[in-house]
Amino acid sequence: MLDVLSRHADATQKEKHYEAVIESIEALMGPDTDWLAAMATIVCELHHAFDYYDWTGFYRVVRDEHLQIGPYQGGHGCLDIPFTRGVCGAAARERKTQLVPDVELFPGHIACASSTRSEIVVPFMNPRGEVLAVLDVDSDSEAAFDLIDQAGLERIAKLYSERFPMRPSVQR
Ligand code: SME
Repeated sequence: MLDVLSRHADATQKEKHYEAVIESIEALMGPDTDWLAAMATIVCELHHAFDYYDWTGFYRVVRDEHLQIGPYQGGHGCLDIPFTRGVCGAAARERKTQLVPDVELFPGHIACASSTRSEIVVPFMNPRGEVLAVLDVDSDSEAAFDLIDQAGLERIAKLYSERFPMRPSVQR
């Protein structure tokens, strides 16, 4: 397990830490790792590597325009989120990372925990640009995430969306 990075670490330390997390994920995954095992491993490694990650988890696209909880770490997460709602819904709908420094200023934010102050949600897309899941990270600190977090998480999204044959359980 990696050391835990403080929210007050400088940019270089933070960039290096994302590199180290990716190395750690790589070391844990083997040739038989499937997408579900990959999601669980990504979430676990990230959650324990940063002191400002208070909830870390995936929401999967389970049917048209609808997300359902996947592997996560932290307290209870909401089970179902339509694309029309919340930060997760916005990331899935717009196919774009949502970096939210203050959740109270985000219209429609869904408060799964009242302690959450800031949030980042990154879409995982297949090569055709279809969203298969979103990775949601919540923090109890205000403005906890910055562009380095965004770059690190988007790198993970690209790396593993391409590597694993994600099988969305979209029922058409
Ligand atoms: N805050 C998210 C909902 C998921 S929970 O925070 C775990 C949202 O607004 O989409």
